[in-house]
Amino acid sequence: MGGMSGAQPLAATMAGATYLGAEVDASRITKRIKQGFLDEVVEDIDEAIDKAFKYRDEKKSLSLCYHGNAADLYRRLLERNMIPNIVTDQTSAHDELNGYVPNQMTFEKALKLRERDPKRYRKEAIRTMGEHVSSMLEMQKNGAEVFDYGNNIRAQALRAGVKNAFDFEGFVTRYIRPLFCEGRGPFRWVALSGDPEDIKVTDEAIKELFPENTKLHRWLDMAEKRIPLQGLPSRICWLGYGERERAGV
Ligand SMILES: NC(=O)c1ccc[n+]([C@@H]2O[C@H](COP(=O)([O-])OP(=O)(O)OC[C@H]3O[C@@H](n4cnc5c(N)ncnc54)[C@H](O)[C@@H]3O)[C@@H](O)[C@H]2O)c1
Repeated sequence: MGGMSGAQPLAATMAGATYLGAEVDASRITKRIKQGFLDEVVEDIDEAIDKAFKYRDEKKSLSLCYHGNAADLYRRLLERNMIPNIVTDQTSAHDELNGYVPNQMTFEKALKLRERDPKRYRKEAIRTMGEHVSSMLEMQKNGAEVFDYGNNIRAQALRAGVKNAFDFEGFVTRYIRPLFCEGRGPFRWVALSGDPEDIKVTDEAIKELFPENTKLHRWLDMAEKRIPLQGLPSRICWLGYGERERAGV
């Protein structure tokens, strides 16, 4: 539920999916609930899994977060043979000291260990990432769509001795590169006036310009309703080769 990762529950529900995440830091969960990015928090690991799968089966686009360690949640999912359709991770695994929290200890104890004994903390974090990625690989074997979300967790797991850590791909190679190959990419604009109404006007103009692009229309409608503006009002959308030029003019 961090800076970038905190957008995932909203992204999932906007796409019509049910979302189950894990976060060790309660303050981060509270923030995302207040912002409307996350629907629910659950303290008990089995209750979180049961609820998420129930929502999925009922086709409810809701997001919930287990308050605890992601490595523990993934292991428990496997123990119960409950395999999600899509699995990824967006902890700050690239920084084993300040970004990733090891399991087998409370969050508060982990923070103290980080201060007191950084060397041991690093060791525990790398060990946990090994477990974390091993579970992701196991879920992949069991039919889940598994990918790395740009946080270097596969390389960290390799350090922990998980030799096949790179058996699942990164999201850029798997999903973004094919779009870039056909010239499709992100296109952003900002209302320098500071007036959110100006973004509404541009949303309408884009919809008029591309009447056949139903995915784009859906995104713009949902973005207006569900994404709070931060700083200057702005918008992003993905447009294809030639489309960006038309939108810009
Ligand atoms: N894919 C992309 O486009 C993209 C973009 C930006 C950032 N990233 C990468 O994604 C990662 C996350 O970015 P961020 O901005 O959300 O970072 P962040 O540090 O703000 O958030 C990470 C969250 O993970 C939690 N966490 C850490 N270890 C955990 C564990 N074992 N179990 C449960 N929760 C744990 C932390 O408490 C924190 O809230 C970074 O490595 C970043 O480089 C990827």
